[in-house]
Amino acid sequence: MPISPEDRRLFLKNTSGLDNGFRAGGKLQQPAYYHWLEYLFHSLMKDQAVRQLFQQLAAWDMYTYRHSFDVFLLGSLAAHRLEWPNIREMACGLLLHDIGKTAIPRTVLTKQTSPTVAEWNMLKSHARQGYSILKDHGFSELISSMAYRHHERLDGSGYPNGVPASKLEDPVRLLSVLDVYSALSLNRPYLRAVSPLQAVQLLQKEAGSLDPEYIRFFCEFLGIFPAGSTVQLTNGTTAVIIGCDDISSTLPLVRDIRTHETFYLPVDQTLRISRWIDPL
Ligand SMILES: [Fe+2]
Repeated sequence: MPISPEDRRLFLKNTSGLDNGFRAGGKLQQPAYYHWLEYLFHSLMKDQAVRQLFQQLAAWDMYTYRHSFDVFLLGSLAAHRLEWPNIREMACGLLLHDIGKTAIPRTVLTKQTSPTVAEWNMLKSHARQGYSILKDHGFSELISSMAYRHHERLDGSGYPNGVPASKLEDPVRLLSVLDVYSALSLNRPYLRAVSPLQAVQLLQKEAGSLDPEYIRFFCEFLGIFPAGSTVQLTNGTTAVIIGCDDISSTLPLVRDIRTHETFYLPVDQTLRISRWIDPL
């Protein structure tokens, strides 16, 4: 199935500006991943209901539209890495997880100051509204529940229902992690983004309300590891991450635990991290 020129352009337009090198772990710079995502996006857009809803999102709130596309990219790549079945269904849920925002007044969505209690309740209702919109369009329970539950938290502190961890499926757990990462690391009209490194550090503080296993998986996926982590390098050396900075977050300073030699991972990537040894 060839990709239409229209969808090729739309994908390119949506992708450009989202990835400042490492926001998606450098995957978008790899042609195989780029074309796989482009094809996946096109296959979703062939469904008229998906296309119509995604266009509605673009017309209603450009930030939510960009964020939704970003979550689609990150989540689809993550699901691919995890070798999950039904990636297309999951990808659809990722792309439309915030569709309920189209039912929220624009004045409330784009307000520059803190929302009132009534406005906050209105904002929170996008999860329920999204579920209704997707169900009304005949989408599956998984896709609809991704919209309904992406703000639920493992410790029951989320909304709309404060459901316990036992009721939160894996796609929702992963989506919640990506949703927070995307929200932190994408520029908003009135809020500057933090770097991928800072976003990951903030995510790690949320382990408990967000799934620690998926946070760990996502750090590995991005190639950003917290200071103190023990890792194995591609030459078999075991090392401890000493730290890294925003510019080279995937090229940390490490210490060889046997020789105590301290060095930065090289820019040419001749020596890389192969796996994370210690748990979060
Ligand atoms: Fe949301």
